[in-house]
Amino acid sequence: MSSAFKAGLEDVVVSTSDICFIDGKEGRLVYRGYDVNDLVEHSTFEEVVHLLWQGDLPSRKDLEAHRKALSATANRRLPPRLLGLLRALPKKTTPMDVLRTGVSALSAFDPDAADNSKQATYRKAVRLTAQMPTLVAAWERIRRGKAPLAPNPKLSLAANFLWMMSGKTPTPLAEQTFDVALILHADHEFNASTFAARVTAATLSDLHSSVTSAIGALKGPLHGGANEQVMRMVEKIKSPAVADAWIHKAIADRVRIMGFGHRVYRVEDPRARHLRRLAAELGRQVGDTSAVEILDIVARAVTGDKHIYPNVDLYSGAAYASMGIPTDQFTPIFAISRVAGWAAHVMEQHANNRLIRPRSDYTGATHLTYVPIDRR
Ligand code: COA
Repeated sequence: MSSAFKAGLEDVVVSTSDICFIDGKEGRLVYRGYDVNDLVEHSTFEEVVHLLWQGDLPSRKDLEAHRKALSATANRRLPPRLLGLLRALPKKTTPMDVLRTGVSALSAFDPDAADNSKQATYRKAVRLTAQMPTLVAAWERIRRGKAPLAPNPKLSLAANFLWMMSGKTPTPLAEQTFDVALILHADHEFNASTFAARVTAATLSDLHSSVTSAIGALKGPLHGGANEQVMRMVEKIKSPAVADAWIHKAIADRVRIMGFGHRVYRVEDPRARHLRRLAAELGRQVGDTSAVEILDIVARAVTGDKHIYPNVDLYSGAAYASMGIPTDQFTPIFAISRVAGWAAHVMEQHANNRLIRPRSDYTGATHLTYVPIDRR
């Protein structure tokens, strides 16, 4: 075999796809032909989900039907036995572990679990996208010793999630910010978790298994887990007054700074700009802009000294923190949006499938002589 391989599959094209395009040099992100900046300005998460799954923007009538399906209590609520399973978990279980376990368990209750037809996968995608926010919010309440709240079918996915987390109706700015965050995280081409989902789907496995694989991949700090680590950094820095000295020391110590750098973007991630603006607005609304101030100082230093640019994870946590969301829920929030992309990719994979099975460049021995155990 050839020894030519790309570490981390960098720049390796593994498939065609019609779902998402990233121009890493220009800093453009496009879903099904539409620039994400336009979607942020004009669209909603629900409409973007339709776009990703159906390939085009919906008519008013189609959007209404789609919105209804995503918000129906029958689709959003969790089976009581699943809530029992959550209550049985140790309270210290991390929200990402609970989400991975919960999504896997949801397949046991799904009427279409064993059906991998296009229509059944679509129905499962609707249910899973509707259920995952309920699952994340239910765990937040259970671990704090509170009863989970029933979903409200009158609320958008964003507002309903914030309501189920806290029992308070979100402010219009919080709802809009959360909706934009959902739009911005909904898909990102062949990122690690999406690739994990596609690898699983390509064995002709089902949607729940693919999403469970994806959640496992998203959890790591080099992928979705970075937004939590950014907030831990802000907590360590504590004050804008010391941020510059702190970050220059970290750069000198060659520490990997979370929320910067990207495998594809060579310029600033287009998603970071929106999240910075919204995090700053929310910070002003709640009277605490220190996190954004710290991150601005960190960004100036990292970009100036290392020419590495902010990515999607730099400012999202500051926005979520202003909404009162605990840091270890940031990555589950990423997942409740990205499930839209994962599902789109599973459908695309199933529609034109070939098993994904690469090779390794084997570097071990090949002709060792077996030594019986009593002679080793
Ligand atoms: N902080 C400090 N240095 C960084 C960096 C960061 N966040 N991101 C990349 N670099 C540096 C590396 O040290 C390396 O420098 P070197 O060649 O002198 O060793 C160079 O840039 C290339 O980095 P590499 O890790 O090989 O790039 P990659 O494409 O494999 O990694 C990421 C991409 C996203 C994993 C990487 O940028 C990273 O770890 N970022 C922090 C985690 C994060 O925010 N993830 C969310 C991504 S949306």
